Amino acid sequence: MKDNIFTDIPVQYESIANATTALAFNMASDLYTGSLLKTLVASKLSGRILELGTGSGLATSWIIDGMDENSKLVTVDNNALLMDVAKQNLPDARIEFICTDGYKWLQGYKGEQFDLIFADAMPGKYDLFEETIALLKVGGFYIIDDMLPQNNWPEGHSERVAAFINHLESRKDISLTKLNWSTGIIIAVKLRLINDN
Ligand SMILES: C[S@@+](CC[C@H](N)C(=O)[O-])C[C@H]1O[C@@H](n2cnc3c(N)ncnc32)[C@H](O)[C@@H]1O
Repeated sequence: MKDNIFTDIPVQYESIANATTALAFNMASDLYTGSLLKTLVASKLSGRILELGTGSGLATSWIIDGMDENSKLVTVDNNALLMDVAKQNLPDARIEFICTDGYKWLQGYKGEQFDLIFADAMPGKYDLFEETIALLKVGGFYIIDDMLPQNNWPEGHSERVAAFINHLESRKDISLTKLNWSTGIIIAVKLRLINDN
């Protein structure tokens, strides 16, 4: 099995990738993560999907390919230049693009919970995790990438990553699997907490 052969790359991917290179954006999600997201999203019929950190829309293109016609994606980023690339390449009524600060958005959101959250920005991952997991339905997926050392990590980030993984592992309300694959992926599912008094 060759896991680096992708037979279902989204049609918009190449155009987004070219624009991403032109903008010298170096935090883009890779094909492995995109492919995994598409597969997990496809398990959520009429799903509500949240992406924190749209970037230029590379993972977004995979996510919408996994969505059925009744699914909805909310995607949040504070960089208008990057989000415009996603908007131009992915004109799709199922997507709500929100260009705002993720910290403010997470603290102010009062809508329905989500079936899958791809947390690919500081808010939702290393910050405001409690608020983010509260937005996930029981049985929903919480997905993160970039958990293995990356060239663009700033000083002190590896300690933050290690502490975050420890925190995730200590929680009783999620079941998780760590994958040393792609950039380092964690797949977590939110559990119903049974009161065993
Ligand atoms: C790892 S990149 C996302 C990559 C993207 N998911 C992809 O498929 O290529 C992280 C993104 O988080 C965004 N970001 C950083 N700080 C943010 C904030 N406070 N609120 C919202 N977005 C933020 C950046 O603009 C960047 O696009």
